[in-house]
Amino acid sequence: MSAPAAVAHGGAGPGPDRQHNVEMALNRAAKILESGGSAIEAAVEACVALENDPVFNAGTGAVFRNDGSVSLDASIQTSDGRIGFVIGMENTPNPIRVAKDLLDEEINGLAGRGARKWADERGHNKAHVEGRPPIGNEGDTVGVIARDSRGLLACATSTGGTSYRPAGRVGDVPLPGSGFWADEHASIAATGVGEAITTALLSYRVHDRFTGSSLDMLASMEWGISELIEPGVSVGLIGLGHEGEGAGFSNTDMPWAAWLG
Ligand code: GLY
Repeated sequence: MSAPAAVAHGGAGPGPDRQHNVEMALNRAAKILESGGSAIEAAVEACVALENDPVFNAGTGAVFRNDGSVSLDASIQTSDGRIGFVIGMENTPNPIRVAKDLLDEEINGLAGRGARKWADERGHNKAHVEGRPPIGNEGDTVGVIARDSRGLLACATSTGGTSYRPAGRVGDVPLPGSGFWADEHASIAATGVGEAITTALLSYRVHDRFTGSSLDMLASMEWGISELIEPGVSVGLIGLGHEGEGAGFSNTDMPWAAWLG
């Protein structure tokens, strides 16, 4: 038996005060875990709450690409070795639900029109996603990591992509090891400027530092951001191990919260 736990963030970068909104989403995960739900359900439903909240750059509040389009990425990974991710989805308010449905498929990831077609075949909600203009140089993402009483970890992330990026651009969120990583020891999720996160393979390397050294989670995150990310590039991380409470660290404004059952 494990103590259920969850940690969530609302993105790295300037934006409105979003701490309360993150705590509301985390509360959703906590309630699911307290009633015996799985880490997958908790992480996905909390991520959906963040996607549905227009203050976050994910789902409904996703920032426009340079051509005014809205293009959504999402991913999920579990500590028992399953991955699902979607890239460049349009008209999909909750891409994390599509990513989740890939966990038990032969394929891991889908992109663009094919992803939407696959989602249509499985009855996923198709609706116009309003989006919004970029504000500042945001690299926001939303992310939730949950651990259930069986010890399973699930890490869910979702984004409209860093601001001022062209249509078709792919950031860190759907790339394993970049925007997220999970195994039986721990899970890490990243937010911020996707190019810097991807170049650093940030989530995997912070995870590796945590599991392969004497550094604790917070120190591993601090190491990752100070050593692997150029100064001035907005990046944040959350993490949760197979025991204990979640942690968060960012070099900029990043609302985040942790819960331990
Ligand atoms: N971190 C979100 C993105 O770069 O797309």
